Amino acid sequence: MSRLIVVSNRVAPTQEGRPAAGGLAIGVLDALKESGGVWFGWSGETIVEPQKPVIDVKGKVTYATIGLNKRDYDQYYRGFSNATLWPAFHYRTDLSRYDRQEYSGYLRVNAQFARELAAMLKPDDVIWVHDYHLIPFAEALRELGVKNSIGFFLHIPFPAPEVFRTVPPHDALAKALMSYDVIGFQTDADVQSFQDYITREALGTATPTQSSDGRPAAKLSAYGRTARVAAYPIGIYPDAIAEAAELYAERKAATSLRDSMRGRKLIMSVDRLDYSKGLAERFLAFERLLQTSPAFQGQVSLLQIAPPTRSDVQTYQRIRQNLEMETGRINGRFSQLDWSPIRYLNRKYERNLLMGLFRISEVGFVTPLRDGMNLVAKEYVASQDPANPGVLVLSQFAGAADQMPGALVVNPFDTAQMAEALERALVMPLNERQARYRDMMGPLRKNDLSVWRDTFLSDLRASKAAGAAPGAARPTVEPILG
Ligand code: G6P
Repeated sequence: MSRLIVVSNRVAPTQEGRPAAGGLAIGVLDALKESGGVWFGWSGETIVEPQKPVIDVKGKVTYATIGLNKRDYDQYYRGFSNATLWPAFHYRTDLSRYDRQEYSGYLRVNAQFARELAAMLKPDDVIWVHDYHLIPFAEALRELGVKNSIGFFLHIPFPAPEVFRTVPPHDALAKALMSYDVIGFQTDADVQSFQDYITREALGTATPTQSSDGRPAAKLSAYGRTARVAAYPIGIYPDAIAEAAELYAERKAATSLRDSMRGRKLIMSVDRLDYSKGLAERFLAFERLLQTSPAFQGQVSLLQIAPPTRSDVQTYQRIRQNLEMETGRINGRFSQLDWSPIRYLNRKYERNLLMGLFRISEVGFVTPLRDGMNLVAKEYVASQDPANPGVLVLSQFAGAADQMPGALVVNPFDTAQMAEALERALVMPLNERQARYRDMMGPLRKNDLSVWRDTFLSDLRASKAAGAAPGAARPTVEPILG
């Protein structure tokens, strides 16, 4: 089998079993180990002197990581990726700002990464690029004459054309995406948004076709290029999570949490501290529950674990301050001598321990304002005790909502509805909880992480044979903006 080359902004830690290795990293690593290959991306470090990629060979997998200097970090990562694309793609056009220099830095880093990777490529390598940081990566490789199959998977939502158009270089970004042979999105809605942009704004065409496993896909043509697009909803390994949850629910950290609850009920949320996650709205819904159903006062707590990320981006500093204020206000309003409503923790916990904590909670409260998929929702369900499962309250704006038929689906902009769903979850009878759990575990097993990975890779490997014509005469890239 041809080698697999994975390219992502962050490269999973090379020491396996490290707590930071999330589901995605595990899934991609499995594939790399099977076919052998390279994982290429940013080292996570900022450097002063330019450097060549640092190579670390572990068995059949080579990790190639490269540092970013301060200007590249500011323009490519902190700037265009996380202050322009991230908010806009999560429908927060109010928080998205545009700076030509940052966009120029974004293109420059993509071009630099492409040059470094091109030097390592073999002709039949298959290249799989991940996420919004690297939209122009294939175009930069094509410019260097690379003819390999290149696929792209977007982990975050693709916005409706009207919203995408608020990003000034939208046309260049769409054109860059069309340099890939296969473009994968999390949901059918994301596919539709991209297809709408291509057909309406870029005056391209869309022809229905099928994915390698018979699921609907489309062949898009625009800018003189052709690409296949389809939804590949990312999954988890539910049985491995269930096992970890069972084990860790008995570890000291989990049992002391349970003891501290003294028979009270626990609502749990775990998110990166990000404005797209709807944390403030969630706190307000919990406050409303305590206000409208006072019997819950002293009887239920919300545990919100929210490790800070991107803390040097201004919008993230603001949300942190706001949440600290809201927690203080709500706790000040309702706390009793031996109980406070919200436990708000700005720190990271080992993933397996989180699964254990999910298992001992009564409700999983996962209400992003927008989310590509949201694996926490899936992990919450997989962590439950089948004999006494907790209930998932899930935002309709998480990609996962399509696949979680047993969840109580809410609109995170409707505080009253969220409070009602919490109440319903907290008093739900056992037989209903069990039925809802079963309704979700079946699909989680059927569409696990290996299905996501294998379907995408088989479509990508088939794309050349299907005549997507990688490397066919492609117009040159627009000049970089100064
Ligand atoms: C999201 C993105 C990932 C990103 C992760 C952590 O899940 O889709 O690409 O790696 O957030 O964010 P960070 O900025 O710390 O890499």
